[in-house]
Amino acid sequence: MNLTVIGSGYVGLVSGTCFAEMGNKVTCIDINLEKIKKLKKGIIPIFEPGLENLVLKSIKSKNLFFTNDFEEGLNNSEIAFIAVGTPMGEDGSADLQYVLSAAKSIGQLMTKRIIVVNKSTVPVGSADQVRKIIQKELDLRNSNLKFDVVSNPEFLKEGAAIRDFMNPDRVVIGADSKIAVKKMKQLYSPFFRTRERFIDMDIRSAEMTKYAANAMLATKISYMNEIANICERVGADANQVRIGIGSDQRIGYDFIYPGVGYGGSCFPKDVKALTKIAIKNGYNPKLIIATEEVNNLQKLVIANKIVNRFGEDLTGYSFGIWGLSFKPETDDMREAPAIYVINELVSRGAKIKAYDPKAVREAKEHYLKGLKNITYVKSKYDVLIESDALVLLTEWKEFRSPDFGMIKSLLKSPIIFDGRNQYYAFDLKEKGFECYQIGK
Ligand SMILES: NC(=O)c1ccc[n+]([C@@H]2O[C@H](COP(=O)([O-])OP(=O)(O)OC[C@H]3O[C@@H](n4cnc5c(N)ncnc54)[C@H](O)[C@@H]3O)[C@@H](O)[C@H]2O)c1
Repeated sequence: MNLTVIGSGYVGLVSGTCFAEMGNKVTCIDINLEKIKKLKKGIIPIFEPGLENLVLKSIKSKNLFFTNDFEEGLNNSEIAFIAVGTPMGEDGSADLQYVLSAAKSIGQLMTKRIIVVNKSTVPVGSADQVRKIIQKELDLRNSNLKFDVVSNPEFLKEGAAIRDFMNPDRVVIGADSKIAVKKMKQLYSPFFRTRERFIDMDIRSAEMTKYAANAMLATKISYMNEIANICERVGADANQVRIGIGSDQRIGYDFIYPGVGYGGSCFPKDVKALTKIAIKNGYNPKLIIATEEVNNLQKLVIANKIVNRFGEDLTGYSFGIWGLSFKPETDDMREAPAIYVINELVSRGAKIKAYDPKAVREAKEHYLKGLKNITYVKSKYDVLIESDALVLLTEWKEFRSPDFGMIKSLLKSPIIFDGRNQYYAFDLKEKGFECYQIGK
């Protein structure tokens, strides 16, 4: 099939590349000139495991193309995916301007009957807006071309995006046309070798499904963090409690690690957007509001532990940070807890030395840009030199089983703030460390 993917970020680039891998001819469009220039040369602008190889392979086999030109990208397209960003608007609602602008381009430049698939996470009712805009543009062109609008929310996880896209738990298709559902099933069938996992539903339910899934996962995290905060106060150990409750199949072990809170490009904005959708429609979503409130406080729990240990004024202290990205295996720092922890420590006069395997460029160029008193180093052990404590904020694999002897010898004093409870299995006291964890 001839496919167009509008928006070549984490979702668009991964989706387009995986569809190309299955033999489709895919053109990825982006308004970012620099990004497309790089992609045309085979340079991948983001870090996502396995992505580079697949992109290079599909460029070589002439199944994957990149362009800034919508006319070129939409020419002869049978299915156009909208995979642009839907960031948080000023009032917390999802900002739809990029989705609507992509829809306008489709209406202006589509050359044959097309299925327009919304992969971006959008509020309920957005498909109607997309449909209206495309129809308006077709009317202006006096065109009788037909089109369908489908909601196909994306559930991939950054860091495991290729694996998730290639082996999806489910593909949700929200559509009101049989032709569109049939074609979507044809497109996705190669991804289901053992059994198909399509879930078709109406468009609004599909749009809602994505928000409901993300809010549920965020709520699990906030719930566990709240339990951890109670554990600390009553002398219980949140990690033992985690294992105790996770063994109940109705609860499960996923998403119940106590830690420094959730971040990333999805949970924070989607939880907020769902709150706005509910309020706009006359419902006060108390649990979802609380999920966000707990998370906002949780991001500072580790900073508060540092203040309790070293005092309100951190002038003269230096902290070594392990991990900047919002989770391992990605360079994405959007809403990463590290941003909040580091800003809090620096605002109290501390100096920071930071190491992350992939996210340092993002930190320097965007999320911690211009911040004074932070230096970035190339090895995890270099952050410890002259530092008063180690602060672990992202659970990258290379931090899992470090050389504790080396940590101890390099730090000024053997103190670890373990924001991800990475070291609950080690007896750090026995190794001579003072260790602070969440929920303990
Ligand atoms: N990142 C994730 O893990 C993830 C997972 C599931 C769903 N989503 C959703 O998918 C959507 C995209 O997220 P992302 O993380 O890929 O965003 P992103 O910011 O990485 O990429 C969006 C891309 O769209 C481009 N763009 C903006 N307007 C455009 C236009 N009119 N035409 C062409 N390109 C345009 C931007 O330049 C950017 O490259 C969001 O709605 C997000 O909530 C993201």
